[in-house]
Amino acid sequence: MTVRELQNEILRLKKERGVFILAHSYERHEILEIADVTGDSYRLATAVKGAKEDTVLMCGVRFMAETVKILAPEKRVILSEKDAGCPMADELTPELLGDLQKKYPNAVTAAYINTTARVKAMSDVCVTSSSAVKVLSRLPEKEILFVPDCNLGSYCAKSLPEKTFHFFDGGCPVHKQTGLSDVLRAKEEHPNALILVHPECLKEVTDKADYIGSTSGIMDFAKKSSCKEFIIGTENTIVEHLQYECPDKKFYPLSKKLICEDMRLTTLKSVYDCLLGGGEEIILDEPLRLAAKKCIDKMIELGG
Ligand code: 13P
Ligand code: SF4
Repeated sequence: MTVRELQNEILRLKKERGVFILAHSYERHEILEIADVTGDSYRLATAVKGAKEDTVLMCGVRFMAETVKILAPEKRVILSEKDAGCPMADELTPELLGDLQKKYPNAVTAAYINTTARVKAMSDVCVTSSSAVKVLSRLPEKEILFVPDCNLGSYCAKSLPEKTFHFFDGGCPVHKQTGLSDVLRAKEEHPNALILVHPECLKEVTDKADYIGSTSGIMDFAKKSSCKEFIIGTENTIVEHLQYECPDKKFYPLSKKLICEDMRLTTLKSVYDCLLGGGEEIILDEPLRLAAKKCIDKMIELGG
């Protein structure tokens, strides 16, 4: 089958079987084309409200599918590839978080959405890259234990000097690979380009950026900007998507190393197989789901 034939077959099957497809912005172009909703983690987490279908297929990584199940327990939620995880989310175990909470007993725990359901269940508030600064600024508490991404955490701390932050020494293994030398080289090669980066990048990178935001934020900024050239400091699929959507502009990767292997696991064939019964259904114990939901509800209440 050609890509187009496979896409048509997917669209036919998804309608026949009542499946709502969510695809994170890091997924391949041909997957975004057949999805009902695409975007950043926040957008995917909240989009399920609008789904009338009984089954939701998440083309993304495990914590994203878990978040959908936490918010919509009545749906069958399928993860496109069972091995698609987020190494940063998996790094912070409940035991490690428990130790940190003992060390900082007066701090509220703010968990990035890139965490497991068990870690969310131990946290006070959840944040996404697009909502973190706004949500934390609206928290009355002044002392925050931010987990697991110390780079997103440092970015929040810089924007909220009135708060005291404690961090877990975690971070995204993909974004952490780029540094100041990549910024200087890219800027030398493309002196007229604006630098747009994800807050998961190291401080030495975000300090030099013209715009810092979520995957959807970066895409929206580039599309609306009157500038014609951009250096993109996040997963390199975003460079491809932007180049496709804005053929009159130029997009350059900050580094060729910005590839998330977990996001790349899902192919159009995976989506097709899921519609025929493949993928992994996400099952969460009800007490765990309810405990994990509290911190996501708090994020939404605070205008996340
Ligand atoms: P976004 O919320 O910006 O989509 O980020 C998710 C992620 O995993 C980025 O690496
Ligand atoms: Fe996790 Fe990084 Fe991949 Fe995002 S890019 S899913 S934070 S490993």
